[in-house]
Amino acid sequence: MNEVERIYQLREELHRHNHNYYVLNAPEIGDQEFDFLMRELQDLEAKHPECYDENSPTMRVGSDLNKNFIQVPHKYPMLSLANTYSEAEVAEFYDRVKKALNEEFEICCEMKFDGTSISLIYENGKLVQAITRGDGVQGDDVTDNVKTIRSIPLVLQGEGYPREFEIRGEILMPWEVFEQLNREREAREEPLFANPRNAASGTLKLQNSSVVASRKLDAYLYYLLGTELPGDGHYENMQQAAKWGFKVSNIMRKCTSLEEVFAFIRYWDVERNNLPVATDGVVLKVNSLRQQRNLGYTAKSPRWAIAYKFQAERACTRLNMVTYQVGRTGAITPVANLEPVQLAGTVVKRASLHNADIIEGLDLHLGDMVYVEKGGEIIPKIVGVDKEARFMIGDKIRFITRCPECGSPLMRYEGEAAHYCTNDVSCPPQIKGKIEHFVSRKAMNIDGLGAETIDQFYQEGLIHNIADLYTLKAPDIACLERMGKKSAVNIIEGIRASKDVPFERVLFALGIRFVGETTAKTLAKAFRSIDALAAATLDDLLQVDEIGARIAQSIIQYFAEEKNREIIERLREAGVQMQLPETDATEYTDKLAGQSIVISGVFSHHSRDEYKEMIEKNGGKNVGSISKKTSFVLAGENMGPSKLEKANKLGVPIVNEDDFLKMLE
Ligand code: IVH
Repeated sequence: MNEVERIYQLREELHRHNHNYYVLNAPEIGDQEFDFLMRELQDLEAKHPECYDENSPTMRVGSDLNKNFIQVPHKYPMLSLANTYSEAEVAEFYDRVKKALNEEFEICCEMKFDGTSISLIYENGKLVQAITRGDGVQGDDVTDNVKTIRSIPLVLQGEGYPREFEIRGEILMPWEVFEQLNREREAREEPLFANPRNAASGTLKLQNSSVVASRKLDAYLYYLLGTELPGDGHYENMQQAAKWGFKVSNIMRKCTSLEEVFAFIRYWDVERNNLPVATDGVVLKVNSLRQQRNLGYTAKSPRWAIAYKFQAERACTRLNMVTYQVGRTGAITPVANLEPVQLAGTVVKRASLHNADIIEGLDLHLGDMVYVEKGGEIIPKIVGVDKEARFMIGDKIRFITRCPECGSPLMRYEGEAAHYCTNDVSCPPQIKGKIEHFVSRKAMNIDGLGAETIDQFYQEGLIHNIADLYTLKAPDIACLERMGKKSAVNIIEGIRASKDVPFERVLFALGIRFVGETTAKTLAKAFRSIDALAAATLDDLLQVDEIGARIAQSIIQYFAEEKNREIIERLREAGVQMQLPETDATEYTDKLAGQSIVISGVFSHHSRDEYKEMIEKNGGKNVGSISKKTSFVLAGENMGPSKLEKANKLGVPIVNEDDFLKMLE
């Protein structure tokens, strides 16, 4: 077999393994073997750009290409469903259908998935476009992002699928992924997602599809559209779709009586708590497509379907006390301590009160009977007070003014709901949080130092700040509980290795408020050393692209603190990188200053990412789509035909790889 044949073989195999793993939950090979095959395909594709295929399994890893989404019209409008919370209204729906049809009918009951809806268009067995709901008439073309979702087939299997069809469904972030993502966001001082639905729709709209790929979205499909569908039954058609490779929920029942429908609803109202993704109701659909056509549509929704929404589960219990937690960032979270109560399958003892405004809005008093709800969110929340039940009124809950951990005064930043502890140098949860962030993978990447170990070192008085890490000695920690010589040596080695971590990551690791990974890179590039950054005025900072007043203020404030400057000095003495390497400086030029450059096609000398970096280092800007303002297109092999046409139409020059490299010589 030659290399090209191998490419086709690998693609077929990898599509199949993807389906086994992500749709059927029945992998035939291990992760390592899968990665191995994927790498083999990536290498071969790089060698054979002529075999480029936009639906190759390698496309699942996403690209770094930024682009603004293009709005496209839906071929069939994306309607919504009539909603109800009452069983009586479900019965009315059933009767209406019965009267209107005046013949036997089946109702297909399925879960209402709580994510973000998507319409996928397939032609000749290949995914050609993915569009969000938008306003129902037109939506955003998010094809590149959707291609990173492993449970969505890029190429269909089996046979019998129509030449052209649409399939709609819900993109979801599984609970587990959602919880992990929020833990990571908390560590980076980024705002948390309220629920998996927001997380899924936020992720789908990200510009960078490689970040989308890392977020592990999932998708269930529930609606086929087209002129040549296999049969008349919605349920049967969806079973066919499953055979073509789509992830179709197996929680689907055809019912022939209202009692059966209610049994389905009642069963899943409880059982849904055990599903890996969020659901918020049950959708009832008349199964026959012919009958669906007979029933037709109102202006907003089909007459052949209805959504029964589950009540967010609610319980009433006594508020015993309000305590306050200090997060790693110093943010204070008020927590309601409740008389334990059964709610949605678990016993709830505590609920979040979010912030001072919420407490004030509820007019909370100690001993109040409060309503607790568990909606799409993970943490139950207090949604109301039963004021009728107040016969002896307790003390009004007043938000604290000092930090419960260190006693420092609290403050509230303009435009933010949370209160913060102002003592970021000696408040214990903040110190530990800062150290955890410092050692994390994307920062200094020091292995073996988890939250527990950091807590242990802190309790033992071995570390009080990030600079103290560099004074640790193996014998000092080897004798601690649960430690041992080997782990001690590993930790010390990890700390030593962190001295080679490049300056931009050190800058991120310092944990300056609002300085995330990308901002740290921008700042490192603009100022090149910690000394230059520390000496920068507000104006200097604002001159830098993408640095706004909020970030600039925060940087000024950081360096104004004597304690922070001391820590930086100690890190520098320990050998931590406090500037970009000199050699690096030669790579920065302004040869491409002011130019907007689009990258397209497959390259042979460097990767797309490398070209992107070269453009940025030489003062240019890499943009996603061609417009009048584009200076030129850096084109490799197989540049997309629509891009080529657009460039020609707008008179944008096309520069090939070799000429581009010459420009930079
Ligand atoms: S069928 C013509 N089935 O609920 C309506 N929708 O308010 C076709 N949804 O936009 C939609 N689970 O995002 C259908 N099993 C399911 C669903 C479902 C969730 C969402 C969908 C739709 C919204 C309707």
